[in-house]
Amino acid sequence: MSRIRVEGLSRRFGQVVAVDDVWLDVADGEFLVLLGPSGCGKSTLLRMIAGLLPPSEGRVLLGEADITHTPPQRRDLAMVFQSYALYPHLTVARNIAFPLRARGLSKEAMREKVNAVAKTLDLGGLLERRPKELSGGQRQRVALGRALVRDPGAFLMDEPLSNLDAKLRSSTRAEITALHRDLGATVLYVTHDQVEAMTMATRIALLNEGRVEQVGTPSEVYDEPASVFVARFLGSPSMNVIEATVQTAPDNGGGLSVRAGGVDVPLDVAAEVRPGQEVLLGIRPEHLTVTTPETAALRGTVTAVENLGGEEIAHCQAGENRFCVRGPRPLGLAAGQDAHLAVRTERLHLFDPADGRRLAWRPASVTV
Ligand SMILES: Nc1ncnc2c1ncn2[C@@H]1O[C@H](COP(=O)(O)OP(=O)(O)OP(=O)(O)O)[C@@H](O)[C@H]1O
Ligand SMILES: [Mg+2]
Repeated sequence: MSRIRVEGLSRRFGQVVAVDDVWLDVADGEFLVLLGPSGCGKSTLLRMIAGLLPPSEGRVLLGEADITHTPPQRRDLAMVFQSYALYPHLTVARNIAFPLRARGLSKEAMREKVNAVAKTLDLGGLLERRPKELSGGQRQRVALGRALVRDPGAFLMDEPLSNLDAKLRSSTRAEITALHRDLGATVLYVTHDQVEAMTMATRIALLNEGRVEQVGTPSEVYDEPASVFVARFLGSPSMNVIEATVQTAPDNGGGLSVRAGGVDVPLDVAAEVRPGQEVLLGIRPEHLTVTTPETAALRGTVTAVENLGGEEIAHCQAGENRFCVRGPRPLGLAAGQDAHLAVRTERLHLFDPADGRRLAWRPASVTV
């Protein structure tokens, strides 16, 4: 298995910069997810790594070898596409065996390999069927089988689950994760689905307009988003982001607070923001709780409450600002009533309104 390095990779289509100076280092055995909204350059990046598209600039390395100009079939990589790309006229067995054809293996050796892969993916009973006689999930498993049989240095997968219904997606997700664990394979996996990214990845690279915004473990990117873009992209409902001002708070022992209409959040910060500074205040919906009017940091009106079964989401309005609260049901909030909310101040986020980057700060309660 292999390490993949991407060094300063860019790709332009006329005026459009689809991928813009991307650097990535995917360790041997890692499951790296490329996550980002539609059109941010995920497929273009993956296709350049696969060798299906020449880069405008930059290099791709597999292990120690520079493969930037190596034809795709000579790269030790297997690609799995969203559309499965199976041969309709071939049986499942022949579809899986296809990449082995050029290797000059004996019929017996080929059959053995196909059977082993079919066993891993639970396709044993389907080997003589054709793709049109399979369900979407089964087709995707055949496509995975065709990648597995090559025993490649690394797997590249472009939204392999997006054609499956929710239930099948969840079970196939677990299968791919288990497969990764068993094989110890390097996987580079593209998706725009944050749940897939959070549950499958060892690390996530967030892409925005062709650029990498942040690379980190699922907990790192969720708990310490490097930018407002990352903060908003991960989490459902997404993070509340409020335009606010840092002020001195006489009732906070001369400390600082962050204020906006209906919002007065004490900021137990050690540094890096000053009174008068404009900031974007980020609060995840699950870090707000119902409290008494006296202790509330956010005051507003509840506009709607959604019942999700185990949890509730309340939509509130405070002055100009809208925000969401999420928690176990019942939250104790009802539409049309006042909302008095406390914030877990150690979980606050501050961003620079000029460029959206995270402002460094730490709660005073945390001693370093
Ligand atoms: N062959 C092409 N010619 C011109 N523009 C292209 C071409 N391929 C991609 N693009 C543009 O490059 C940008 C990135 O496209 P890409 O397919 O990589 O996005 P993506 O992140 O995979 O999106 P999605 O989640 O919708 O699959 C888009 O603006 C797209 O329109
Ligand atoms: Mg794509």
